[in-house]
Amino acid sequence: MHQMALGIFGGLADSYELALDVATLVQDRYWKAWTIRAVGIGPGDSVLDIGCGTCLLEESLDRLGCQVVGIDLTERMIRVGQSKKVSCVEGLVVGDAESLPFPDSSFDAVVSCYVPKYVNVPTFAKEASRVLKPRGRLAVYDFSRPSGPASPLVRLYLHGAIPAAACLLSLAKSEAAATFNELPGIVEGARWGQVIEQAFLEEGVRALTRRKLSAGVVTAFSGRKA
Ligand SMILES: C[S@@+](CC[C@H](N)C(=O)[O-])C[C@H]1O[C@@H](n2cnc3c(N)ncnc32)[C@H](O)[C@@H]1O
Repeated sequence: MHQMALGIFGGLADSYELALDVATLVQDRYWKAWTIRAVGIGPGDSVLDIGCGTCLLEESLDRLGCQVVGIDLTERMIRVGQSKKVSCVEGLVVGDAESLPFPDSSFDAVVSCYVPKYVNVPTFAKEASRVLKPRGRLAVYDFSRPSGPASPLVRLYLHGAIPAAACLLSLAKSEAAATFNELPGIVEGARWGQVIEQAFLEEGVRALTRRKLSAGVVTAFSGRKA
């Protein structure tokens, strides 16, 4: 799965943010705002962003007075993030969500957007929980396999709007076209949502909530370490 992520994001870094806005119909901004509210980040908090990409979340965290460390598998995504020089960012590290290079109980909050579908979920949950301080908060979200009453609508978006965007991007010779072509298959195959709740519970995360955002295009989890 690491090779899949590196293959996708190594070539996408420069056009990632435009691609994200198109692929999510700008809904990602709302999902990131939800994440920040869910963990209740405030002044002085130390935050770890797992799979930080190009530091989009960090730009929103910048006005909150927290200090953020970002980690990502893809060096080119990290380089784009570094070039922004977001002032709340204390460090950006190339590294793996499944083997975090931080001591136990390091952070007040852990956030992660779009990573669960690329990782071994129990290992990811174990690492995210390990680096959280006791009573630390976490929130994650990712695309989830469509389910429930809104799934026909979500499938229309996945198998209609996304391939249409892929066509336009390929006409414009954008590197993002391949990612858009792959996204529906990746989302339909995503099983992370079925196992992450149990994985977090086993790692001592409590007060877990599951929320479907934007009719279930993404599923978000938040909780607190015991
Ligand atoms: C869709 S991007 C999301 C970036 C950022 N979180 C955001 O919301 O804009 C997914 C990111 O997860 C990273 N990623 C995938 N697998 C990872 C892993 N095992 N460890 C760390 N980062 C990973 C990718 O390199 C990519 O930058």
